[in-house]
Amino acid sequence: MARTALVTGGSRGIGAAISKALKAEGYNVAATYAGNDEAAAAFTAETGIKTYKWNVADYDESVAGIAKVEAEVGPVDVVVANAGITRDAPFHKMTPQQWHEVIDTNLTGVFNTVHPVWNGMRERKFGRVIVISSINGQKGQFAQVNYAATKAGDLGIVKSLAQEGARAGITANAICPGYIATEMVMAVPEKVRESIIGQIPAGRLGEPEEIARCVAFLASDDAGFINGSTISANGGQFFV
Ligand code: CAA
Repeated sequence: MARTALVTGGSRGIGAAISKALKAEGYNVAATYAGNDEAAAAFTAETGIKTYKWNVADYDESVAGIAKVEAEVGPVDVVVANAGITRDAPFHKMTPQQWHEVIDTNLTGVFNTVHPVWNGMRERKFGRVIVISSINGQKGQFAQVNYAATKAGDLGIVKSLAQEGARAGITANAICPGYIATEMVMAVPEKVRESIIGQIPAGRLGEPEEIARCVAFLASDDAGFINGSTISANGGQFFV
């Protein structure tokens, strides 16, 4: 029977490529989105992938949303915590609101997404937790104290979950994309973006599909012995 995959932030950017790649691999896919109804409807029309609207920063909304997905699509076997936001500012200008919005969505959002599916995975003795971290969680980034903290936190989450889930057939891994050609990166001022591309040995931004293929591999049975790992996909920009 086909497995079910849940992808948060799965209707746009890297998440949309992940949803499509998993569907192409034969998974029943549910994609969540936070606010852009139009983009979500267009995504469903284009791909046939069901979309669900909730705020990953809210635990109760996540529990209710995931219950709906499990009733309509199936018990979640693969969870991809991908939803994320930026509120970039140099630290001396960063407001508590910018700090909390990013922490609540990017870090607490991972807890809120994985916690409601964890016991089901334990009971069924199979699970794949894949968290989309970032190069900037590995190396830090000017104007991203908040974002880098969450993306470094993702690595702690998967390393801990890997130890807790291993005996129950669950793996937890992170992917650290470098700079990928999405709206998030295109929102960086052009001059800054050009200078970033200059620091990428590949000489280009990555494509969302290049991250999606990493997810499809980590979700597969072939990746069953990979647990607590971090896959860097950044064109050679940074080595751990
Ligand atoms: N390194 C060093 N200095 C930098 C810098 C950098 N990467 N980026 C900006 N600066 C400097 C500027 O040159 C400028 O210096 P001067 O004052 O001497 O001219 C100063 O910092 C900027 O000061 P401002 O007061 O003008 O800053 P601002 O309040 O307008 O903020 C900014 C501008 C938000 C920092 C903007 O430059 C920016 O968005 N930078 C990009 C940050 C970034 O790379 N974010 C990653 C987004 S993509 C992503 O997050 C996806 C992923 O996972 C990879």
